[in-house]
Order: sequence, then C-alpha cells, then structure tokens
Amino acid sequence: MASQTTKPFLRALAGETVSPPPIWLMRQAGRYLSEYREIRATQPNFIDFCLNPEAAAEVTLQPIRRFGFDAAIVFSDILVIPYGLGQKVWFEKGEGPKLDPIALSDIGKLSRDRSREVLQPVGETLRRVKAELPEEVALIGFCGAPWTVATYMIDGGGSKDRFNPRRLAWSDPEGFDALMDLLADASADYLMDQVAAGADAVKIFDSWADSLPDPLFDRVVIRPTKRIVDRLRSEGVTVPIIGFPRGAGPQGVRYAAQTGVTALALDHGMDTGWASSNFPKTLPLQGQLDPAVLRAGGSLLDDEIDRLLSAWAGRPYVFNLGHGIHLETPTDHVSQLIERVRSHG
Ligand code: CP3
Repeated sequence: MASQTTKPFLRALAGETVSPPPIWLMRQAGRYLSEYREIRATQPNFIDFCLNPEAAAEVTLQPIRRFGFDAAIVFSDILVIPYGLGQKVWFEKGEGPKLDPIALSDIGKLSRDRSREVLQPVGETLRRVKAELPEEVALIGFCGAPWTVATYMIDGGGSKDRFNPRRLAWSDPEGFDALMDLLADASADYLMDQVAAGADAVKIFDSWADSLPDPLFDRVVIRPTKRIVDRLRSEGVTVPIIGFPRGAGPQGVRYAAQTGVTALALDHGMDTGWASSNFPKTLPLQGQLDPAVLRAGGSLLDDEIDRLLSAWAGRPYVFNLGHGIHLETPTDHVSQLIERVRSHG
C-alpha cells in the first residue's frame, strides 16, 4: 500500500511492509537511562513530573537522541486519567503506584471535564517534542485502556490477579459498565487532545487483558476499547490506533476484528506461528521481543531478534518488545538490538 508519509513507523501502520522494520521500545523513556534518572531526581512527585511539559518533553526525547528510534512516545503515565478525574494517585519509591481505592458508588464524584483540564500540560509536552523531533521520527500519544486503569482504581494499586475488579464486573454489571464508559470517554477526550497537539499515532495499553473469561473480555476489554475508537473516528481523528491487549491470546483475534484498532501490539507470550496464521495478513503487528532476553543480551538476543524478523517478514510489522523494557537493561543491549534489526532487509 502506498502512503504519503516518509516516516517508516507510519508507513508500517498504513499497511506497508517496511524492511528493515521501524523500531521503538515500550517504556523507552525510563530508569534504564542515566539521563532519565538525572531528571527524575529533580522531580520528587511522579504525577507532577508527568504534567511538567519541560521535563516530560526532555525525557521523551532522550531515547531518540541516544538510540535514534523510529518513534517517540510521549512521557506520561496511564494513571494520569484517574488523577485527572479526581482520584488520589501517588507513587512510592520501589512500590509502584498507589491510589485511594474507589467504590463503584463513588463514580459520580469523578469529573471528565476536570480530567480534560488537568491533562492539558500533556498536550504542551507533545507540542514541544514535535518541534524537536527529526522529520522521519513519529510521535505516539497513549492512554491506558479502561479495564487496566480500572483495576488500579479499584484495588488502589497494582493487583496480583485482579480478583476484586473481576468480582465487581460480575456482581454489579451496571455500575462497572458505567465506570468503563466514563473511562472510555475521558480517554477519548485525552487522546483527541494528544492528536490535536501533534501525536501521529496513539496506543491504548490494556496491560491486564489476560485471564478474562470470554463474556468479561467482551464487556471490559472489547466494548470500552471500541467505544474509544468509535469516538475518535466519529470526531474525525484519522491517525492509526494501536491496541495492546496484553495476554489476550486467541481472544486477540476478536479484539482485532471488533474494536476497530488499526494495528495490534503482541506480547512475548503470544505463540508466533499461531499469531501469524490467525491474524489477517494486512493487519499491522508490533512486538514481541521478551524484555528478559534484551536484559540478558549476547548471541541469544541476536537469535531471538532473527526469529522474530523472519516470522514477521513480508507483512506490515514494527519491531518492539512484548512488554516494557526492564529497568536494569544495559544500554549496550539496546544498541545491539538496533544494529541487528537495521542490518536486516
Ligand atoms: O517511555 C514510555 O513508554 C512512555 C512513558 C510511560 C510510562 N508509563 C512512564 C513511567 C508509559 C507508556 C507508561 C504506561 C504504563 N504505566 C502502563 C502500561 C504499560 C505497561 O508497562 O504495562 C502501566 C501498567 C503503567 C502504570 C505504572 N506506572 C506502573 C505499574 C509503574 C510502576 C512500575 C515501574 O515501572 O516503576 C509506573 C511508573 C512509571 N511510569 C515509570 C515510568 C518511567 C517509573 C517511575 C519512576 O521513574 O520512578
């Protein structure tokens, strides 16, 4: 398929087989970079950091300057949405995110208008990054998917098996679906504002889409994601939308067919051969290098890169990890990855 853009990342998302494939890495701005840790040390409050356009733009650009990736992803977090809606969110060192847990009966206290207002600085971050990015590098905006964000809101932080959010989804379908709708609408507002500020593509992270029985997968993953996609399209947003239903396995086929996403990000647990025969050949895919093999490095890293490149040769594909980069990843291993991928094709 021919396309107007010269950005390799956008050509792949438009359905073109780009060889070698464009590269970026999930969570590419972060603690494995000394230059990130330096800025982080000046930003004691993580949410304030996400909403500080100067600092956020700087750390968004760091991995582009150091490695020359084909796409930058705006520095923010999926939990800025609950924060914007009015929930208390904070980050504790070494413990990850904490939230003041909400009950479904509290949803009325959350405000979508407030969220849109509070998240305006992220638009400013995107505008600053856009002004600095090389012509061939694309800019990605993102949000968390309603289900994944809700698991944090309900459990007050990361939860091991999402038992409680699943229980609520079963026991109070009306209340739960109302929360999904609110999150989908606030996320659509947020993504529209990111596109207006210069995002060339957006990604919806459903990091906890695994282990859901079919009826719940349809209700809490597919339906709210489709609501976001439909809203963006009906508002005239045309940029590619990448869905990442991490751990969905075969349910990913339904997700790809029904949500309307442009492209699918695959995790490293997805069977490559199975995925290759079960996803439409025209569907752009992204992933699925194990962050642990990137951390390990050496010749096994080369072998694994080669396996993925040959599995996905001949179709629209973006090279990426199957999940976020591990914070102890040596930067040499990232350079090795880039060299290996770019020497193919
Ligand atoms: O470079 C990028 O990818 C852009 C920035 C980005 C961050 N978080 C910054 C961040 C993105 C895309 C995210 C997404 C995100 N945040 C997800 C979905 C992707 C995934 O990994 O599954 C989730 C589940 C979160 C929630 C979250 N934020 C957790 C669980 C944590 C703590 C775990 C950790 O890695 O520390 C965060 C904090 C966070 N978000 C950091 C960064 C760079 C580290 C915080 C720090 O600097 O102290």
